[in-house]
Amino acid sequence: MRYTPSDMRAVWFRSQDLPVPDRDQISITDTAKLPPVIVTRMTKGGVGKTSVAVNVAASLAMMGYRILVIDADPQASASNLLGIETSAYDSNLTHIGDFLKLSTNTPDENLPSAIKQIYEGGFLDLIPADITLAEADASLVTAMSSHSRAELFFSRNSSFLGQRYDAIVVDTAPGTTPIGLAFTYAARQAGKVLTVVEPEGSCLRALDSLASNLEEIKALTHAIVGMEVVINKYHPSLKHVRDSMSFLYAKYGSMLNDTIIPQYSGFARQINPTNKLPAPLVELEPSSSGSSAMFEVSKSLITSFGIRMA
Ligand SMILES: Nc1ncnc2c1ncn2[C@@H]1O[C@H](COP(=O)(O)OP(=O)(O)O)[C@@H](O)[C@H]1O
Ligand SMILES: [Mg+2]
Repeated sequence: MRYTPSDMRAVWFRSQDLPVPDRDQISITDTAKLPPVIVTRMTKGGVGKTSVAVNVAASLAMMGYRILVIDADPQASASNLLGIETSAYDSNLTHIGDFLKLSTNTPDENLPSAIKQIYEGGFLDLIPADITLAEADASLVTAMSSHSRAELFFSRNSSFLGQRYDAIVVDTAPGTTPIGLAFTYAARQAGKVLTVVEPEGSCLRALDSLASNLEEIKALTHAIVGMEVVINKYHPSLKHVRDSMSFLYAKYGSMLNDTIIPQYSGFARQINPTNKLPAPLVELEPSSSGSSAMFEVSKSLITSFGIRMA
């Protein structure tokens, strides 16, 4: 017997002695609040940022939360991991760059049509990316107040997003591009970004530069954005890993998530599983060590980002 996200959601409502809401009868109001937004950030690529973002999103959906993933990386790895093929030359999808280009307060009429359904019932939806997102990123370099465009996108669509989702997960590109900065600035609502690090020298330096980037944002815009740091690809037998762990505890101890994600070969199989479509590890190998860690991280984020079943 397998439980669906919808079963899990019903169990949660019953456990609180609340009536289980019928999705078709959700009343349309203008007052729905924007749900918590989890923005993943890291200046270095290949650390597992996309793997964490997508597995956290899928885990939360499996627990019955309604999740929107925004792929904000032109490499489209999150989209591909969720089974959306974006490499066709005539791929003509609406991506987040099409919304960030606009400086308006009017809700985006084409937002619903940009969203792809990944799980039935609206539990996991995606705004996919493709390589043309890089053009939008470049055009933002010279745009007025480009740093506030993601926040503006969320605020003008907060009613729609608040009715449909319990949390939004944004997978950003490595480095410090205008889109990455705009989502970092928007993360001030949650007070922090979700950062993924590997316990390894160049990653620790990348973490330092992200930390100073957040300080600069604070100095320039007064936005206070902290970090919640998840350690990924941990392997206890390597000396440089142990040394890096000591550094992380000493310098970033108060920001570390309690769960450490182990090095696990199954992550590589997400994009090329045998006889299956690409999918997050928590779906492909739910009882593996990698998935257990992802479920633990997800549970902690429910508390630390204040995610609720609305
Ligand atoms: N815990 C892990 N153990 C082993 N391999 C991992 C782990 N997390 C991620 N990977 C692998 O590392 C590579 C980069 O991961 P990805 O999530 O795309 O990183 P990023 O988004 O930071 O560039 C991928 O091949 C992925 O399968
Ligand atoms: Mg990535």
